[in-house]
Amino acid sequence: MIELKHIYYTIMDNEKEKTLLNDINCTFYDNCITAITGQNGSGKSTLTKIIMGILSPTSGKIYFNGKDITDTTVDERAKMGITYAFQQPVTFRGITIKELIDIASKEDNSLSKACEYLSRVGICAKDYINREFDKTLSGGEQKRIELALTLAKGGECVIFDEPEAGIDLWSFDKLNEIFEKNICYIVVSHQSRLLKRADKILVLENGKVSNFGNSNEIIDKLQKYKCKLVRED
Ligand SMILES: Nc1ncnc2c1ncn2[C@@H]1O[C@H](COP(=O)(O)OP(=O)(O)OP(=O)(O)O)[C@@H](O)[C@H]1O
Ligand SMILES: [Mg+2]
Repeated sequence: MIELKHIYYTIMDNEKEKTLLNDINCTFYDNCITAITGQNGSGKSTLTKIIMGILSPTSGKIYFNGKDITDTTVDERAKMGITYAFQQPVTFRGITIKELIDIASKEDNSLSKACEYLSRVGICAKDYINREFDKTLSGGEQKRIELALTLAKGGECVIFDEPEAGIDLWSFDKLNEIFEKNICYIVVSHQSRLLKRADKILVLENGKVSNFGNSNEIIDKLQKYKCKLVRED
């Protein structure tokens, strides 16, 4: 479980103070998919980077399973079990996908175990397992493999920044087969299909939480106010 208390994030932009996150208070629960949504530039990626420790909040506190982790580094948070998948995957030339799975899971996986991670994200494992994770892979393939690596890494809190950018992940019928139980999932998304499948939704507007609650309630609210945040695709 991740708790955010009075998180502010302010930067200097052209000698002017700019508040990218403005008093964020919210709890991300275990065994729950929380989707973060909001317009471009509303602060979604900034918020997930603050949770992972890539950025430090200007003020406020972050708790992981009740422990104050505000001053811990990315590495320390990764060791504690917080995992992050970037909006743009990073590719590696010269390293095969099998090797990357082994690095991610910190063990020498059998071929069948390594293939299982790829199969879970809808990739025909035997065609990819010995390929390099490089730019010859399509954008969607890169995102899927990155997702498989995130799953191989494991963790108690897994953050995905727009996994659907380029993949049709959320059209998978059995989302539960990809996501294991007892984990706190935080997924940045604009797609209504994902928002409908999330348990909770956090809506950001100009760096502030404008709505947070159970997904059906929030979707109803967004539709009621004819909010354009939910993309129907
Ligand atoms: N270092 C920076 N200097 C100036 N502005 C910044 C900086 N980092 C982020 N911003 C601004 O902060 C705002 C929030 O950015 P962020 O990447 O968190 O948005 P987002 O909600 O993830 O958007 P998107 O949906 O496009 O991914 C944007 O307006 C962005 O331009
Ligand atoms: Mg973003």
